[in-house]
Amino acid sequence: MKRVSSHVSIASEAEINLDLSRLLIDKPRFTLERKRSFDEQSWSELSHRPNDGFDSVMHSPAFPTGLDSPFSMGTHFGEPSGPHPLVNEAWEALRKSVVYFRGQPVGTIAAVDHASEEVLNYDQVFVRDFVPSALAFLMNNEPEIVKNFLLKTLHLQSSEKMVDRFKLGAGAMPASFKVDRNKSRNTETLVADFGESAIGRVAPVDSGFWWIILLRAYTKYTGDVSLSESPDCQKCMRLILNLCLSEGFDTFPTLLCTDGCSMIDRRMGIYGYPIEIQALFYMALRCALQMLKPDGEGKEFIEKIGQRLHALTYHMRNYFWLDFPHLNNIYRYKTEEYSHTAVNKFNVIPDSIPDWVFDFMPCRGGYFLGNVSPAMMDFRWFALGNCIAIISSLATPEQSSAIMDLIEERWDELVGEMPLKISYPAIENHEWRIITGCDPKNTRWSYHNGGSWPVLLWLLTAACIKTGRPQMAKRAIELSEARLLKDGWPEYYDGKLGRFIGKQARKFQTWSIAGYLVARMMLEDPSTLMMISMEEDRPVKPTMRRSASWNA
Ligand code: GLC
Repeated sequence: MKRVSSHVSIASEAEINLDLSRLLIDKPRFTLERKRSFDEQSWSELSHRPNDGFDSVMHSPAFPTGLDSPFSMGTHFGEPSGPHPLVNEAWEALRKSVVYFRGQPVGTIAAVDHASEEVLNYDQVFVRDFVPSALAFLMNNEPEIVKNFLLKTLHLQSSEKMVDRFKLGAGAMPASFKVDRNKSRNTETLVADFGESAIGRVAPVDSGFWWIILLRAYTKYTGDVSLSESPDCQKCMRLILNLCLSEGFDTFPTLLCTDGCSMIDRRMGIYGYPIEIQALFYMALRCALQMLKPDGEGKEFIEKIGQRLHALTYHMRNYFWLDFPHLNNIYRYKTEEYSHTAVNKFNVIPDSIPDWVFDFMPCRGGYFLGNVSPAMMDFRWFALGNCIAIISSLATPEQSSAIMDLIEERWDELVGEMPLKISYPAIENHEWRIITGCDPKNTRWSYHNGGSWPVLLWLLTAACIKTGRPQMAKRAIELSEARLLKDGWPEYYDGKLGRFIGKQARKFQTWSIAGYLVARMMLEDPSTLMMISMEEDRPVKPTMRRSASWNA
């Protein structure tokens, strides 16, 4: 195994073959204190977990902030040619999006598009949108804005949440918030939206999960455990988890959701058990497990999480996974089976398999289905859920490789000219009418319906690095670089190949800018992946002992 320096040149063949997981252990840029990784423990050990805090916390000697820090100067994949012009432009645009509350930076606005007539809620700080901004700031040694954001949203959690006369659960986290300025009184207040103002009145199920994931990223990167260990953060996590771990009528460990409750925040036929939410749920559970203190109420949650993860992992890896042999099995399914011996457990009717999937499914590769519920399999491919499945190790190493194989095999369909398709394929005609409710924003190959979203570049890059395929990320980043600045950092692109700036896409969309920066920084220093990725869970093999009777 060859040692590499922090700036990995990914152009050469030899480096393509690097084992990046080793690289992550070497952690070149920071002094590393590595206790036994909690990630390396298995669920079965959970109930005996010592409170050992964080495994591989990076201790940065001192945080230089801002412009002189390593990444804001921008290098071109470690090449001596100097900073790529886009990096400096992107940092400048990202800084313009920062929102201040009582003098402190607390987040980034969704889009700084002065040309757009309709502001809608793009002038707000969205929780999900802030994640790539937060990662960029952390990587640039500017953790303050991230800490402020985590604390402000935590306090917003306790505000009253009413949709008409119905009160939302205490754990719900806002989709977005804004700073309300009263000029005459010279006061500033934060106003949150939990779904009561959102189009469609849907609460964001993903916000709480992203909050937990971000808290872990902050803790991992800064080494500052005082925030996650504070009573407020512990309580916030418990409240979020309480919403998802409470008992009900469920027969599956997956989380039942309504349409529009995540990044795809409009009706798109993802109600049920959407992959995006299941993957984020899994990742948030694992992150929470690392941060919850095993005292009092925390202990109870740790146990519940362990049980849920056990069941969720099994369910997802078995029932959501699709590759060529699985597809063939489903194609040959018998229906109306009863009892425990049923093979076709959810009674999926083979006639409901859409034609496109037979052509789309390569011999090499696979992916997690969009949704699985009784007599219903959504065969669409969704980018976010599949990338998070890799990053969080919800996917086994074999499944992770297969997902990347599929992206390679179906590059034109999924990446095309602008990474990355949010979903594939688009729904059209009658199906579009029924599924979207005739949504004019979600016409075929546009927006959430097969549109291409530059923000997804960071997730693709993280997945590429995790699976040891940086050359794929490099290709995708170069595609983005050819268009993003020139086009004014659009929110999304339209068309089968993602060639057209989206019909109603905002310009200077913050997460398009931040997503690009994070992708580039991760590729330049793959050790930064550790703040967002989880290691594989290795179940402990029971120790084999000879029974007493053996010798007798
Ligand atoms: C759109 C996206 C949503 C995003 C919001 C703000 O509604 O669908 O995911 O959070 O814009 O950018």
